Amino acid sequence: MANNSKIWKGNWTFILAAAGSAVGLGNIWKFPYMAGENGGGAFVIIYLTCIVLIGFPVMMSEIFLGKYGRSSPVYTMKKFVSLKGISSYWVLLGWFGALAGLMILSYYSVFAGISLAYIFSPIPTDSLNPSQYSVDFFAQFQSSPMRMIFWHSLFLILTCFIVAKGVVDGIGATIKIIMPTLFFLIILLSIYSSFTGEIGKAISFLFMPDFSKISSSVIISAMGQAFFTLSLGMGAIMAYGAYIPEEQNLTKTVSLIIFLDTFVAIIAGIIIFPIVFANPELTPTAGPSLFFETLPVAFYGIPFSFFASALFFILVSLAALSSSVSLIEPSTAWMEDRFKISRTYAVTILGSIAWLLGLGSLFSFNLIAEFQIFSMSFLDFMDFLTNSIMLPLGGLFIALLVGWILSENFVKEEMKIKNELYWKIWINLTRYVAPILIGLVFIFALF
Ligand code: PHE
Repeated sequence: MANNSKIWKGNWTFILAAAGSAVGLGNIWKFPYMAGENGGGAFVIIYLTCIVLIGFPVMMSEIFLGKYGRSSPVYTMKKFVSLKGISSYWVLLGWFGALAGLMILSYYSVFAGISLAYIFSPIPTDSLNPSQYSVDFFAQFQSSPMRMIFWHSLFLILTCFIVAKGVVDGIGATIKIIMPTLFFLIILLSIYSSFTGEIGKAISFLFMPDFSKISSSVIISAMGQAFFTLSLGMGAIMAYGAYIPEEQNLTKTVSLIIFLDTFVAIIAGIIIFPIVFANPELTPTAGPSLFFETLPVAFYGIPFSFFASALFFILVSLAALSSSVSLIEPSTAWMEDRFKISRTYAVTILGSIAWLLGLGSLFSFNLIAEFQIFSMSFLDFMDFLTNSIMLPLGGLFIALLVGWILSENFVKEEMKIKNELYWKIWINLTRYVAPILIGLVFIFALF
């Protein structure tokens, strides 16, 4: 359980840790390919709308719950049950989130593993057709289960190692270095890519909405991505909220995290699409492979390309690591409390479960490529189930809990919102806008 000695020192530590959780493969790898697959601008607009109208109130709510509970999500919910007299069924929300986190980690680690591998795999400088080389390289990589298992395992071991050391000691310090360096490097890269690639085409693809492309699947994917990228709906942010200093201003903190996260996603798009449109071998609809096929091309030909590309993939892997630790943190903290076992023991068991489950996603590239569940590959099914269903459902219940179940006075006081108008806007977003939008997207997608 969090006690005072564990409260993060200074406002920046929470911001960096939460931004570390939010900014990860979701921004750099997933956002560009999802925008690419779902028609560009139309997807981006729905995504941004969901970030503001749903992401903002849900993130505030999650931090608020964690801060009050000062414990892992399951125990935080138990605290609300005992102190606020809410139904004990709410504890399920904590469980459900911990499960979603493990499920996401299982395939997240497969892709983060590929980033690790790419530290050592730049395009050779004598390559005649770099973009073709890059596409072929990825195809070869994904057809080798043993190679993928090696990197998947390595990434999970690193994740578990950090979590075993404890969130505060394990990530508090490292993130201070990773995040600023990553920001700096992606800005440089985006400038480089704008000058050398087709920036005009990239901008119109990302920002000119073609509304004929909007379908129920685009909408549900955009909402799922908004939850995924902000780490919402499964308790990661709630678990970190347990360590937030008492007096920290939630609105400012959340706005900054959301801004940083969105900024990184858009910049990632501005790195990737100019290169995609400048090379006929690359296509915007490539799917999960888009990032791995495109990025090496960005580095090809620049001075010290080996070094630059290695540095970039190191940073991406570190950003993935600062997200993956938050995926397994809620379940680890719960096991530690529940069974009175060491963090190391708890995270080893949970990491092994994620590893095994991850093999299913990993083999979707090769051994079980033909296997389908509801006409999706195992990987796509896991992705759909977690991002499009479980996270929004978690977010829906979080908004309902804070908006409807807990007393308004209590929430208002704890949130320390003084401005009446702002409070009205905030509570209405939480009470009506977010739940209704999530509900509508579900209904629209199902029928
Ligand atoms: N937000 C992380 C990313 O964008 C992924 C994540 C999802 C982390 C859910 C924690 C919880 O990479």
